[in-house]
Amino acid sequence: MRAADLPDDLERVLYSQEEVAHRIDEVAAVIDKDYAGRDPLLVGVLNGAVMTMADLCRAMKIHCHMDWMAVSSYGAGTRSSGVVRILKDLTTDIEDRDVLIVEDIIDTGLTLSYLVQNLRTRNPRSLEIMAMFRKPEAISAPVDVKYIGYDIPNEFVVGFGLDYAGRYRNLTDVATLAEHVYK
Ligand code: PRP
Repeated sequence: MRAADLPDDLERVLYSQEEVAHRIDEVAAVIDKDYAGRDPLLVGVLNGAVMTMADLCRAMKIHCHMDWMAVSSYGAGTRSSGVVRILKDLTTDIEDRDVLIVEDIIDTGLTLSYLVQNLRTRNPRSLEIMAMFRKPEAISAPVDVKYIGYDIPNEFVVGFGLDYAGRYRNLTDVATLAEHVYK
């Protein structure tokens, strides 16, 4: 679905499908260079990262492997508490592997700090993060992100995997949500 299909729900388009595709190509080219000859393992964090993972790995021109984790943040409301429960763990042994975590968004950074801490104990050869979007608050979180798609404003942003109440993940443009949808 495109932004034009949702004229009442969206406030403004931040990045069109075409701009997102172009940005993914740019990031993929850097990753190709950094990981040449290393067959990295891309670890996607369900559910939001599905779109980023699918487009990023197809834009890459080197071999890569894929695995998935599902996590759930303890705590009330929409804010992460920093205490994360693993709902689905990796099926791959990552010892001595070059691991690249693929996320859709870093908001507080708490999910990723937990994941990095957890995956480090499994002794990967290297562990880096690619996140398609980052919100301003994440700057204060202790997460070292190597590859970023876009820094976005602290608003309700949907599309390209980002949801509001489960909807809009399949929106191919990235847009802010109209206030009446969430108020
Ligand atoms: C989103 C996103 C990250 C996390 C980031 O997941 O995919 O995993 O929140 O937030 P943080 O930086 O504040 O920890 P969410 O729990 O909404 O699940 P989803 O991927 O299924 O949308």
